[in-house]
Amino acid sequence: MKNILVTGGTGFIGSAISSMLVLKGYNVTIFDNNSRGKLKNISALKEAKFIKGDIRNFQHVFKACKNIDTVIHLAAVNGTKYFYEKPDIVLEVAAKGVINIIDSCKERGIKNLFLASSSEVYHFPKKIPTDEKESIKIPDIMNPRFSYAGGKIFTELMGVNFGRKYFKKLIIFRPHNVYGKNMGNEHVVPELLLRMKKNKSKNFFIKGTGKETRAFIYIDDFIKAFELVMTKGKHMQIYNIGTEQMVSINKLCKTIAKIFKKTINIKNKPIAKGGTKARCPDISKIKKLGFLNYTLLEDGLKKVIN
Ligand SMILES: NC(=O)c1ccc[n+]([C@@H]2O[C@H](COP(=O)([O-])OP(=O)(O)OC[C@H]3O[C@@H](n4cnc5c(N)ncnc54)[C@H](O)[C@@H]3O)[C@@H](O)[C@H]2O)c1
Repeated sequence: MKNILVTGGTGFIGSAISSMLVLKGYNVTIFDNNSRGKLKNISALKEAKFIKGDIRNFQHVFKACKNIDTVIHLAAVNGTKYFYEKPDIVLEVAAKGVINIIDSCKERGIKNLFLASSSEVYHFPKKIPTDEKESIKIPDIMNPRFSYAGGKIFTELMGVNFGRKYFKKLIIFRPHNVYGKNMGNEHVVPELLLRMKKNKSKNFFIKGTGKETRAFIYIDDFIKAFELVMTKGKHMQIYNIGTEQMVSINKLCKTIAKIFKKTINIKNKPIAKGGTKARCPDISKIKKLGFLNYTLLEDGLKKVIN
């Protein structure tokens, strides 16, 4: 693993992975259409090569895979609002993207492939914390939200079924609510932070009952865990990447309000159809690889605000 292609490399997670890889001495090529990501996100950009292209276009992907021995595939349409607004594109990018990546790897003889999936594949899991053996599902085919989970489930199916035959190291990782600098505003943490900052009245509106829970991981911790998965993870394995610090949305809002020194009165609005009630990963597998400590939520939020 020396010459690495990072698809979606100017995005939130991709730019942090690319920067870490450059610092560790890998030769990094970044592939993105910059529909969401930005070149300025990459601190070590001077040392990396950037290729602008569309993951849905085989020729673009095939060209980008020249002289590459490892692919980290992150390109996706992320951000919950897009799952509802443009589900066809969400699915197209996921499905054509993984097909083009696997076909290009096969033709170029690339043997190491890391595929980004998501905690969304569990939807509302039977067990919390949720381990990687939990079944993955589409609860309602008619709900556009599941374009995203559907694309990720297809990505995983492609990964395992082609991984067995064509790859030496095929690994799937499922990020769980990563937050930090440079993330798009269409995620829960930046959305709440921005609204809390601007909020003039005591009333603070949230979607859902506020009892819904999530477990957040700060981007720097995510990168440490990803590096362990990349270097120590095993072929044909799936790894949750996240933390076990489960908080309710009510508690999250109160923590953010405390940082901004505001007193709030939480008011509820209906939740978007298909949103899950609880999410928290079992991270025993990454702990076995050496992932031990992580940033406490309040400290991570302060870093983002600063
Ligand atoms: N951020 C999280 O908490 C989280 C959670 C679960 C899974 N993930 C997964 O991790 C990966 C990275 O997520 P992120 O938060 O960095 O999202 P992001 O939106 O910041 O990054 C995705 C990148 O893909 C690029 N892209 C989109 N369509 C493309 C196309 N057609 N061709 C080429 N590039 C294209 C975007 O421009 C963007 O830079 C994604 O696969 C996402 O589904 C993220």
